[in-house]
Amino acid sequence: MPLTDAADSRDSAFPNPQSPIPNPLDVPRHVAIIMDGNGRWAARRRRPRAIGHRAGARAVNVCIDFCLDQGIRALTLFAFSSENWGRPEEEVGALMKLFLAALDREVEELHRRGVQVRFIGDRTRFPADIRARMQAAETLTRDNARLTLAIAASYGGRQDIAAAARALAEDVAAGRLRPEQIDEAAVAARVALADLPPPDLFIRTGGDCRISNFLLWQLAYTELWFTQTLWPDLDAATLHAAIRDFGARERRYGLTGEQVSGVRSSMHGSATT
Ligand code: FPP
Repeated sequence: MPLTDAADSRDSAFPNPQSPIPNPLDVPRHVAIIMDGNGRWAARRRRPRAIGHRAGARAVNVCIDFCLDQGIRALTLFAFSSENWGRPEEEVGALMKLFLAALDREVEELHRRGVQVRFIGDRTRFPADIRARMQAAETLTRDNARLTLAIAASYGGRQDIAAAARALAEDVAAGRLRPEQIDEAAVAARVALADLPPPDLFIRTGGDCRISNFLLWQLAYTELWFTQTLWPDLDAATLHAAIRDFGARERRYGLTGEQVSGVRSSMHGSATT
């Protein structure tokens, strides 16, 4: 079932500026993660950075297992930013090898477990063998609906918004759209992951408190959670702590607390407020 299917009451309650306030979620539908700290994890062990990335790939599996266990419906991982191409050639090469190996090793199993794999970002910059594996993984898993795993690779949030602006300009130039029809919904429909609810929860490991050009449009009302834990040390306990914290937050979408609970009780009765 797609995440936007109205049959799922949690999904149909997802807010946009025109829609009602949703019920609070115990478990986020969509989690987006900046997996930071691989380099420092390796440095602490006096090992090359590539070893940290390899350990980071193992933590990706911990995270996917957790999402499947908890019924989280979408997971977006920032694997490689548009800026990461500027890292030392040796590190970029090691990451490319790691991506290739992970695609070869993991995709069948992800498919078996009902995971839909997709990639966002400028894949034209990747070598042909990786591009072919990305395409094959997407094709193989496209009908899976248990968990959508989006890997942001050669991705930048500004680049994403610029591409949406370009698509809008093309639609206007071709006469498919009038300038006055350009609104938030028109932009939202053209950024990455437009068919998913925006992330409910953003997690960044590694101790830095910034968004670093990830999902800039999509994170507007996302709850942000930061941890000192380095990505390769990620475990289920850390993820549980993030989910607990998320569940305790009041999401107000720019309204007051009274308004939010008032809208909820009028929509669903006092039992759901
Ligand atoms: C940031 O840590 C991490 C990356 C740029 C790469 C992320 C890659 C993985 C987790 C491995 C494989 C991923 C997949 C999807 C198979 P950093 O190197 O910036 O760490 P530092 O801040 O400690 O230097």
